[in-house]
Amino acid sequence: MTEEIVTRSSDGICIIQMNRPEKKNAITQNMYRKMAEALQMADKDDAIRVAVLCGSQNLFTSGNDIRDFQAHSATQKADQPFAADAFFKGVLELRKPLIAAVQGYAIGIGTTMLLHCDLVYASQNATFSLPFVNLGLCPEFGSSMMLPRLAGHQQAAELFLLGEPFTADHARSVGLVNQIFPDETLMEEVMTIAGRLAQKPPRALMETKKLMKASWANDLRKAIETDGKMFFELMMGPEAAEAFAAFTENRNPDFSTSS
Ligand code: COA
Repeated sequence: MTEEIVTRSSDGICIIQMNRPEKKNAITQNMYRKMAEALQMADKDDAIRVAVLCGSQNLFTSGNDIRDFQAHSATQKADQPFAADAFFKGVLELRKPLIAAVQGYAIGIGTTMLLHCDLVYASQNATFSLPFVNLGLCPEFGSSMMLPRLAGHQQAAELFLLGEPFTADHARSVGLVNQIFPDETLMEEVMTIAGRLAQKPPRALMETKKLMKASWANDLRKAIETDGKMFFELMMGPEAAEAFAAFTENRNPDFSTSS
């Protein structure tokens, strides 16, 4: 069976690749768990100096697997552990630099996770979106705080409330992306940058990352908690149920009777 998360390490760089192209790299519970394990391993292994998150076949990810959301909400247990939590714990606890290389779709959690990376590089064909409202949901994992902090309220409101796709150029203009490269050279450019980081003194890198995040770490923790509570409440609700059903039935959702 093809591995849906492929992890490989060399020259101090750990690459964590999402690899479920037949479902546009939609992330399942198992994939989150595998990515969490890879991040923990990258953190512990002294030989690893930097981690790179990427997709496959010209796709980053189409976000959380919507059928998983549907299955989770069907259990009606908002407090049931969701493996995305373990993945974000791995991201937040990673002391080493985390780079994202984004090609193609970066939808939902695919864009949320970029807010928590240290460096984000995109190819010209990258398309981002935060379609939570369209799915009857709300921002997740502290992005309700992180995106307005990065882009300002109005820019963030446009992306969250309308939930429409946006280009790599737009992502760069709001500060989400460091640099845009041609589709064909993205990975090569990212590996060159990762290689430069891997040569640097590791303790100085880690302490610098920690210092940059220290002043707002508590606010982020609170935002993750409040986003999470509301996200799960909405996920159990009728608007999300209609949006998930519309996706699986390949039709437009009907929110006309929502109140
Ligand atoms: N969850 C579950 N399955 C997904 C998925 C997701 N997030 N994204 C894509 N897929 C599946 C499709 O259901 C389809 O499965 P099938 O072949 O069994 O029918 C397969 O991946 C291919 O997707 P398809 O929609 O045919 O490809 P496309 O190129 O026409 O469109 C997308 C690609 C990503 C624009 C579209 O699939 C999409 O909008 N996905 C949902 C994105 C989303 O809302 N994510 C949740 C964010 S919280």
